[in-house]
Amino acid sequence: MDMTLKDLRIHKGLTQIEASRICNIPLRTYKRIESSVTYLNNPKYQYAFELLDKYVVNKNNECSFNSALVIGAGYVGLSISVLLSQYLDVTVIDINKDKVDCVNNREPLFKDKDIEDYFKNKRLRLTASLPNKELYKDKDIIIIAIPTDFNKETGLLDTSGISNLVKEIRTINKHSLIVIKSTCYVGFTDSLNDKNVMFSPEFLREGHALHDNLYPSRIIIGGDKNNKKVKEYAKLMQSCSLNRAKTLYMSTKEAEAVKLFSNTYLAMRVAYFNELDSFAMNHDIDAKSIVEGVSLDPRIGDYYNNPSFGYGGYCLPKDTDSLITQMKSISNSELISSISHSNQSRKEMIAGDIINRLNGHGVVGIYSIQSKKDSDNKRYAAILDIVSLLKDRNINVIYYQPHEMSLDDFKKQSDIILVNRYHPLLEDVKEKVYTRDLFLRD
Ligand SMILES: NC(=O)c1ccc[n+]([C@@H]2O[C@H](COP(=O)([O-])OP(=O)(O)OC[C@H]3O[C@@H](n4cnc5c(N)ncnc54)[C@H](O)[C@@H]3O)[C@@H](O)[C@H]2O)c1
Repeated sequence: MDMTLKDLRIHKGLTQIEASRICNIPLRTYKRIESSVTYLNNPKYQYAFELLDKYVVNKNNECSFNSALVIGAGYVGLSISVLLSQYLDVTVIDINKDKVDCVNNREPLFKDKDIEDYFKNKRLRLTASLPNKELYKDKDIIIIAIPTDFNKETGLLDTSGISNLVKEIRTINKHSLIVIKSTCYVGFTDSLNDKNVMFSPEFLREGHALHDNLYPSRIIIGGDKNNKKVKEYAKLMQSCSLNRAKTLYMSTKEAEAVKLFSNTYLAMRVAYFNELDSFAMNHDIDAKSIVEGVSLDPRIGDYYNNPSFGYGGYCLPKDTDSLITQMKSISNSELISSISHSNQSRKEMIAGDIINRLNGHGVVGIYSIQSKKDSDNKRYAAILDIVSLLKDRNINVIYYQPHEMSLDDFKKQSDIILVNRYHPLLEDVKEKVYTRDLFLRD
């Protein structure tokens, strides 16, 4: 974890004078250790860090919440559980026993270096359990972080699991604040008709789940801002954030819309740069030069602009598709409705290009399924759709699985090696690699 003494002091809202008093060291000494270059080996630095850290704990104990129940120990549920368990007693429940055991043994459930670090080095007030209605009792907040898959029949996110949980919780605990972190379609939280249910969207990136909880881009509070419990939750989240993230209060519908429009914007941006890349491939011109030239406009920005095989993963496809359904009633909506279509045709174009290069036959090797470098999540990866398009055309596909095949054999057996993001281990077979990764980054 790269939090410094200065980060911690700023997070607490302390001046250097106040911090020096808390640590009981002269201001001049405090200033010196705060700017120390070799701070990791400096015992005074560690002493000050520990004291300020404790001071944060005391401050958060002033919050009226003492206990939280988190339902779902996935990316969203586990990261918020770890975050809150620095300050509150947290129980996280999951239907998957392996996950429960992992959390109790402080073993990582997925790749996330900050969670691993916190599991190893922090005293967390965190326990995990299989579902048990008794656990709904006496909790100040209950946070729901279960999946909301796309429902093909309704064209919306499937929120039935959340409705069932809220009903079940209310038979046992009438008054706790329930916070929905799972992504929902616009209007879902209102439909529950319970003033103590609020919606607060999550914006984390897989692979950086705890980091993005510690340094959130914003804290969105969807609920009645005159409700004391809602305000208390906002206060809690602010005090957990190390970057004093901006907090916005709004209605639950507006908060649900913030989440869907954010993810749909990201999907649109991916589709946009992918179309730019398709254009460059078609005209045999250099996509990288064009992206660089376009991105130097500060209104556009040099980030999130690296072409890929298409957007994928658990969230962007389903959230975009759900919003597309809700946009159908808007007569002038053309752009958003076309994003998903553009993504599909990108994958078809890539598959077609590979088939052309192989002259219709050969072996395609998949080096890794996951789309991003820092994540080990393979859910709904775009490459899987490309694989099924290739298989429809009877192209042989093999996967690199280290426990089954050596990398050398994999390289020899593959005519083309497909990677969404380039890996240096493929350098010696560069001419076989098929990627649209122009910048060797996410
Ligand atoms: N993954 C992300 O990057 C991300 C980011 C923002 C928002 N979201 C949203 O948050 C929600 C959760 O996503 P996730 O990625 O954490 O999912 P996940 O699949 O990683 O985790 C969900 C967990 O909930 C458990 N679960 C399912 N039903 C349950 C039940 N009834 N009781 C207890 N546990 C149950 C599952 O076993 C699983 O461990 C989704 O709505 C998703 O769209 C995800």
